[in-house]
Amino acid sequence: MTDSETVSEDRAAASADAAPAAAGALDVVVLAGGISHERDVSLRSGRRVADALMAGGHRVELRDPDAGLLPFLADTKPAVVFPALHGSSGEDGSLLDLLAALGVPTVGSTGAAARRAWSKPIATSLVRDVGLSVPESVVLSQESFRELGAASVLRVIRRAIEGDLVVKPASGGSAQGVTIVDAPDELPRAMVHAFTYDDIAVIERRVFGTEIAITVLDTGDGPVALPAVEIEPTDGVYSFQARYNAGETTFYAPSRLSAEHAAAAAEAAVLAHRTLGLRDLSRVDFIVDEAGTPWFLEVNVLPGLTETSLAPLAIEASGADAAQVYDALIRQAAARG
Ligand SMILES: Nc1ncnc2c1ncn2[C@@H]1O[C@H](COP(=O)(O)OP(=O)(O)O)[C@@H](O)[C@H]1O
Ligand SMILES: [Mg+2]
Repeated sequence: MTDSETVSEDRAAASADAAPAAAGALDVVVLAGGISHERDVSLRSGRRVADALMAGGHRVELRDPDAGLLPFLADTKPAVVFPALHGSSGEDGSLLDLLAALGVPTVGSTGAAARRAWSKPIATSLVRDVGLSVPESVVLSQESFRELGAASVLRVIRRAIEGDLVVKPASGGSAQGVTIVDAPDELPRAMVHAFTYDDIAVIERRVFGTEIAITVLDTGDGPVALPAVEIEPTDGVYSFQARYNAGETTFYAPSRLSAEHAAAAAEAAVLAHRTLGLRDLSRVDFIVDEAGTPWFLEVNVLPGLTETSLAPLAIEASGADAAQVYDALIRQAAARG
């Protein structure tokens, strides 16, 4: 028996006491864990979602996407799967394609759409084409970096993009492998760091302003932007530590942006969600500069749903209840078949 089954059975017993199976209760498998760099975050997201659905009377099994998963799903045919996976095991689309191949209804985007979002260079180029503001960048493979010579490559980049830079892996999450480069001699180390997470690195202009995340939710009436959540890390950088340690970041939900700037960012978020062909739920991240321009950073198809995550804060700020939102999402996915 895996840990996930133990947790699930304990919780199922607890939920049976707390909430007798409601009419229309569904068999739900929540996926959490995986072998990505964001495994722990995913486990926390999955537990939150599973608890909320169980409290609503659903029969929930919390599973790790391990070697037993596909046979288990083929045998049990749950009504719906809720993937609370972050990083490569969920967001690169592979598992989503397999779930579709198995015919299991799944909350969230298709594999193809997830891949468009997972690749930062692809996502940024697609949203730039429809008019969103995206920081200037250079995308570079590790192979080219070596082949063409680090020194001359970095010289060209320095000339092309003025000011501070941000170096990040082309895919990933939770700010892992991301470096803010505010002194030229830090650039080589930042490149090496990004290449430990991905064979492709993005070097882009650092944008200064207000960092916000906009959760886009579609429970049947088309994608709607929830209130922007503003992120103010204590030490100025929204790093991995700043994300998952209580007190290291102050969140404002809704943000302190003017109504006009917030509306522009909301519109940009919905446009990004539509342009990438996303479904159900996404979180679009921006930095809004002094002029009010929302600079698109990236979009997450399986946003964090932990107790310190941005999407649940946005749901709360919208006046909705996270448990009801998750309930609506699983019912919608199950109905989609
Ligand atoms: N162009 C940029 N300008 C300023 N800060 C940035 C830029 N790109 C990323 N950051 C900072 O780095 C963090 C992580 O970058 P992001 O692209 O969102 O990657 P991740 O998928 O790891 O969250 C962001 O939350 C933001 O604080
Ligand atoms: Mg991000």
